[in-house]
Amino acid sequence: MPLGDLFAGKATPAVENLAPGAVLLRGFAAGKAAEMMAALERVVAAAPFRRMTTPGGYVMSVEMTNCGQVGWVTDRRGYRYQVTDPATGKPWPAMPPEFARLAARAAGAGGYEGFVPDACLVNRYEPGARLSLHQDKDERDFDAPIVSVSLGLPAVFLFGGARRSDPTRKIRLESGDIVVWGGPTRLFFHGIAPVADGEHPLTGRCRINLTFRKAL
Ligand code: SIN
Ligand code: FE2
Repeated sequence: MPLGDLFAGKATPAVENLAPGAVLLRGFAAGKAAEMMAALERVVAAAPFRRMTTPGGYVMSVEMTNCGQVGWVTDRRGYRYQVTDPATGKPWPAMPPEFARLAARAAGAGGYEGFVPDACLVNRYEPGARLSLHQDKDERDFDAPIVSVSLGLPAVFLFGGARRSDPTRKIRLESGDIVVWGGPTRLFFHGIAPVADGEHPLTGRCRINLTFRKAL
């Protein structure tokens, strides 16, 4: 299959190598964005967005929820994955099949065949919300990559290196862009600069990010 066929709604693939093991797939999800938002509405109806507290006692500016077998949570006890949503006491909603399909296709385009995510963290950024530099390291499996889908308002993704003090690249992410990182970059530091105010036809006054991982 020609690589272009992998790109929903895009004739020309736009793969930008960020580092060995990390790629930016510009517009990869653009043709699926409305479908993703519709599926997300059903997830959020069962597991509403909420602002979680870090172990240090800070309330995060980003609102979060999850779908999949396990969900990422933080509170005063620490960061972890759990089967139940602490807000409802019920299991997280199942991962919509269209989510899992898109994540697997994007991983494949990034060089990671056979990606089967079991967790999807959903981040919602209102203007001013940010995510400070961090590593994704609460998963059991670092062999699988991370697939990160951007929808709605643009943002500046900070992509650093293995050490917190490494210089960060500033990458503008638009709605439909997907970043895939794994292999030698799996534990690279990354974050999101404060989101600028604006309106987006897909999401209104916010940015949505779907982060797919294999946690178990
Ligand atoms: C994350 O690191 O969990 C989210 C990154 C993003 O919002 O693009
Ligand atoms: Fe992250």
